[in-house]
Amino acid sequence: CLQNADKFLQRSVGTNVVAAQFEATRKEESDEKNGRKSLYALQEERQEQAERSVLISCQSTTNEKKFLKYLSKHGDINKYFFYQSYGLYAVVEFTNRESIASLLEAVAIPSISHESVVPFKSRLLSLRNLGSAESPNQLSGKPCQPQTTILINELIQRLSREESIDQQMTSLTEAYQLTEENSRLRFLVCSLLKDIAAAYFPECTIKPFGSSVNGFGKLGCDLDMFLDLDGISGWNVKIPKSGMSLEYHMKRANSERAVTQSILSVVGECVDQFGPGCVGVQKILNARCPLVRFAHQPSGFQCDLTANNRVAMKSTELLYLYGELDPRVRCLVFTVRCWARAHGITSSIPGAWITNFSLTVMVLFFLQRRNPRIIPTLDHLRDLAGPADKSMIEGNDCTFVSDFSKIQVQSNKETLEQLLSGFFEFYATFPFSRMSINIRKGKEQNKPETTPLHIQNPFETSLNVSKNVNATQLERFVALCQESSWLLQQSDTNTPRGGSGGDTVTTWGLATLLLPSQVAGIKGRKRKRREPASDRIKSLLESLKNKS
Ligand code: GTP
Ligand code: MG
Repeated sequence: CLQNADKFLQRSVGTNVVAAQFEATRKEESDEKNGRKSLYALQEERQEQAERSVLISCQSTTNEKKFLKYLSKHGDINKYFFYQSYGLYAVVEFTNRESIASLLEAVAIPSISHESVVPFKSRLLSLRNLGSAESPNQLSGKPCQPQTTILINELIQRLSREESIDQQMTSLTEAYQLTEENSRLRFLVCSLLKDIAAAYFPECTIKPFGSSVNGFGKLGCDLDMFLDLDGISGWNVKIPKSGMSLEYHMKRANSERAVTQSILSVVGECVDQFGPGCVGVQKILNARCPLVRFAHQPSGFQCDLTANNRVAMKSTELLYLYGELDPRVRCLVFTVRCWARAHGITSSIPGAWITNFSLTVMVLFFLQRRNPRIIPTLDHLRDLAGPADKSMIEGNDCTFVSDFSKIQVQSNKETLEQLLSGFFEFYATFPFSRMSINIRKGKEQNKPETTPLHIQNPFETSLNVSKNVNATQLERFVALCQESSWLLQQSDTNTPRGGSGGDTVTTWGLATLLLPSQVAGIKGRKRKRREPASDRIKSLLESLKNKS
C-alpha cells in the first residue's frame, strides 16, 4: 500500500555528523576486511544502534539544518535519514544512549481538545514547528530513494539494458535487496516494540528473524519478530544443593505453548491498546506457531510477532550463513524468488502455493547437488561445529558451525547464467512423486509421505515445510521450470539486446523469463481443468527426456 509513497533520503549536514559518519563507515569497512560477521554479532550491533535511535514524524517544510541543530542539543548525531511513509519521517541515531534520555525529558505529551491520549511514552515522536513558513533547505522536494522495490515492468526494462544474464541477476539483486536504511528501520521497529513488551518483561529482547535478516529479504517484505525471554536473569541462577535459597513464585500452565499464547495475548493487547502507530492488530494464537499480526504505520511494515520460536531463529541463521558463503547463492535466490512471484507461484496470501522459505530451501538443495558442490550439506556444517555451537531445541539437534573460517568451499566456477539454467532443468525433471528434498543430506531421499511436494524441515526433520502445496501448484512450478529452461536455450532469449542506452529496449534473457507465461496451461492459477501442453512444451519435454 506504500508502493508509491515510500521514499528514503539521506543527508549529511553539520561537521560533527559528517565526522561521525566517516568514522562509522571506516569501522564497517575494517570489519568487512576481517571476515564475515555472524548473524548473532550483526543482530547485537544493529540492536544497540536501534536503542540509540528515535523515529520522528516531520513536516515537509522542516528546515533540515535547523532540525539537526535542534536535536544536536541533546548530543552528537551518528547517523540519520529521512523517508516517506504515511508522511515524512526521520530516523535519528545518536552517538550515546544518554542523548535519548535527555531528548525525552524535553518531549511534551500532546493536549488535544475533544480527544484524550493514552499517556504511553515511546521513541516515536512528532515534530511541532509552530510559526515556521516555507524556507530554503526544507525537506520537501529533495531527491528520494524508494523504500519498496521498483515495479516489475520497470525491472524488466532495466534488466533488458544489461549486457549479460549474469549482470541481469546481479542487477536484480541490487534493485531488490534491503538497503542499509531499511534494515536499520526494521531493528528500530523491533526496539520500539520491545519498549512495549518491557512493561511486563523488562529484560526481554525483540529480534527480527526471517527475510529481514537472513540476507534474502526484498524491500517491502514483512517484519518477522521474535519476543525473546531466554536472556532474562533468573534462568541462569543455580539453586544451591544445600542451605537456604529463594526462587520466584510463578504462575504455571499446562505447556510451553499455553505460556506462549498467554504472553502473546497480553503483549498483543498492549500493542493494540497502547502501541503508537500499531494498527489492525490480529491475535492468531491457535496457529502452529502462535503470533500477533499488525501493521506498523510509521514504517509501513507488516509485522508478525512470535514468541518461543527458536527453531525459526536457527533456520534464519542457517540461511544467512549459506547466503554469506558464496555471492552466487543470494543472486540465485533473489532471481528465483522474483521469477516465482512474477508468475504467481508464490503469493503474499497464505494458501496452497510454495512459500518463499520452501523455494529458498529448493535453491540451496540445487546448489548442493552441483558438482563440485557450491554449498555444504547441513550434516557437514553440523560436523564442523564447536562446543559453543551446540544447540538442542525441543529435542531437535539444531547444531551447526558458526565460524566461517572453518568452512572450506569447493572450487565450482559456474556462472550465474549456468546456475539459473541448471536450476530450471533440475526441477523440470525432478522426481517429485518419489523423492524428498533434503538439505541435511544434500541428496534426495525417498518420500516418507504422499504429499505432492516434500521438503524436509532442516531442523524438525519429521516435518515437511511444503505440506501446504497442492498438486496443481507443483505442476505449475514444474511447467514454468520447463518453459524457462527451454526459453534460456533459445538464441532469441539468450542473446544480449541491451546496452545501447536508447529509449526502446528489446526484452531479453532474464527479463523475458519474467514476462507472463506463453503456455495456456500455466497462465493463471485459477484454471481448474488441465489443458493439453503446447507444442513448445511437448518438444521441450522430449528434449529433456532425451538428455536425461
Ligand atoms: P518472506 O516471504 O520474504 O517473508 O520470507 P521469510 O523467509 O521471512 O518467510 P516467512 O515470513 O514466511 O517466515 C519467516 C521465517 O520463519 C523463515 O525465514 C523461516 O526461518 C521460518 N519459517 C517459515 N516457514 C517455515 C516452515 O514451514 N518451517 C520452518 N521450520 N520454518 C519456517
Ligand atoms: Mg517474512
